[in-house]
Amino acid sequence: MSVKTLQINGVDVAVEEGATILQAAREAGIHIPTLCHLDGVSNVGACRLCLVEVAGINKLLPACVTQVAEGMSVSTHNEQINEYRRMIVEMLFAEGNHVCAVCVANGNCELQDLAIEVGMDHSRFAYRFPEREVDITHPQFGIDHNRCVLCTRCVRVCDEIEGAHVWDVAYRGAAAKVVTGLNQPWGAVEACTSCGKCVDACPTGSIFRKGATVAEMEKDKAKLEFLVTARERKEWTR
Ligand code: SF4
Ligand code: SF4
Ligand code: FES
Repeated sequence: MSVKTLQINGVDVAVEEGATILQAAREAGIHIPTLCHLDGVSNVGACRLCLVEVAGINKLLPACVTQVAEGMSVSTHNEQINEYRRMIVEMLFAEGNHVCAVCVANGNCELQDLAIEVGMDHSRFAYRFPEREVDITHPQFGIDHNRCVLCTRCVRVCDEIEGAHVWDVAYRGAAAKVVTGLNQPWGAVEACTSCGKCVDACPTGSIFRKGATVAEMEKDKAKLEFLVTARERKEWTR
């Protein structure tokens, strides 16, 4: 195993070759905001919240999908990056219908947490107020597309951890949305094992447990983390 050395915010960091900038930063105790990243599943670089500056490269790079290189000098926070992150969060709020006051995830939502972290108090973009459906055909769970930020964490956790591959992304551009069973009502998808991993993986109140009311929805991240990392740590066979 070879080791790469780099600097993040002026701090010397040494990590295994092949690690991402996000992994290196976390090992050094440096926080980089993320939304589509979920520990234990593949990275897709979809949300761009983790953009960082690398000296000598004239564009910002997503830390979750950029591997470290020897001698790299990375800045995770500066005025321009902070402004871009704030704009991304503002666009996410303007793009969907996020009415926190009536959301099951109010107070337990990663999008809300990000808004606070980047200092967003309003969106400077015009709200689109798209017309989107809610699917409550599954006996235990529901999906409200109004709150979906298209992070695809549900798609990846269901495919890569549960092995059921119920979710996919369909359509393009503004019409893009996650679908179950190649666009069947969720309740009609026989491949769904009702494991609930997608519920815990979803960063917003988009996928929810039926019966949860406003601000009641708690996600069990510890359970998900155990499930996604237990195989690597051989915890099944201990
Ligand atoms: S409940 Fe489990 S199997 Fe069903 S869609 Fe969610 S992650 Fe996939
Ligand atoms: S339903 Fe939730 S987990 Fe799935 S893409 Fe939308 S926000 Fe992400
Ligand atoms: S967390 Fe890196 S692009 Fe979303």
